[in-house]
Amino acid sequence: MRVLGFESSCDETAIAVYDSEKGLLAHSLFSQVDLHALYGGVVPELAARDHVRRLIPLLKATLNEANIDLVSIDALAYTKGPGLVGALLVGAVFAKTLAWALQKRVLGVHHLEAHLMAAHLEKVKPCYPYLGLLVSGGHTLLVSVKRPGEYRVLGQSLDDAVGEAFDKVAKMLGLPYPGGPALERLAAEGDALRFNMPRPMIKQSDCNCSFSGLKTHVMQLVAQLKKSQSLNSNALADIAAGFQAAVGDCLQEKTRLAIEKSGCQRLVVAGGVSANEYIRKQLLSLEDSMGISVVFPNKMWCTDNAAMVALTGCWRLHKEWDSETGVSVQPRWPLTDLIASDLIDIL
Ligand code: KG4
Ligand code: ZN
Repeated sequence: MRVLGFESSCDETAIAVYDSEKGLLAHSLFSQVDLHALYGGVVPELAARDHVRRLIPLLKATLNEANIDLVSIDALAYTKGPGLVGALLVGAVFAKTLAWALQKRVLGVHHLEAHLMAAHLEKVKPCYPYLGLLVSGGHTLLVSVKRPGEYRVLGQSLDDAVGEAFDKVAKMLGLPYPGGPALERLAAEGDALRFNMPRPMIKQSDCNCSFSGLKTHVMQLVAQLKKSQSLNSNALADIAAGFQAAVGDCLQEKTRLAIEKSGCQRLVVAGGVSANEYIRKQLLSLEDSMGISVVFPNKMWCTDNAAMVALTGCWRLHKEWDSETGVSVQPRWPLTDLIASDLIDIL
């Protein structure tokens, strides 16, 4: 089955073609970073309008790269949620209209399930069951994945998502949007031990975590250093390194607990923050300390992309599709609302 996938849940417009026999045939992505950088964060209305502008040129480029035409597509998949409602609607209307015109099957997929599926884009695919750690701009979830589509949430952030905390702290340090990658670069020059950062909830025996206290701590530290006129470039790098190390410790410890509780022998890490090299190393160290295997998608599939959407669609479209003519999206959509589908070859 050959699936055309669309991603438009936030500030990236992306299109990809995934073929169950041949794998990924093509993918293209337009990042709206420059558009939102001016405002220091994503402006939802601007994001939606820009998706409208980008979809047709991206579609042409993707089909060109794959060297195929639209009629050779068997089905379409788009991100139905969670995400920004206006941005989601643009992708949903585009994909459903195209599906209707071509008389092909179409399905709205879950963005977080697609992030987890990103690991299946690699040559060596993760085996089930596994523990998934999803760390993105909007979600922080530890989820036990017994088989494709069967999710049990073991822990989550009680307040800010990890990516959100990275972005907010980056802003406090005067870094440009998008904050996460900029903070990682600054942290590489800093001393993580100079400032004593809290590790919220790290001693608690559940798998939940919290990052808003750590964020507030950084805010107060920045204010204090500003007042004493000692907020120089060294201090900024040391704060960034200290913050990143605290987040890494919390994620590592909560993941360790979740592995212990679930008995999973495999960990799959996904979502934008899993592109962070420091956090990758922290989580990778669980291979030695716990004797498990840890899998990350290639960095280009950690952040939002359409390859993961096309792949997820390719798997689910064997069993289910949307025959409604109306368009609806789910800006809020718990992963556990999904139903399991039978394991098929492409996984
Ligand atoms: O998965 P994603 O692309 O979009 C959502 O579904 O949210 O994740 C975006 C988040 C942003 O908060 C971004 O700052 C963060 O992932 N991020 C990073 C890095 N790259 C992206 N955070 C820390 N270090 C990075 N290298
Ligand atoms: Zn995402």
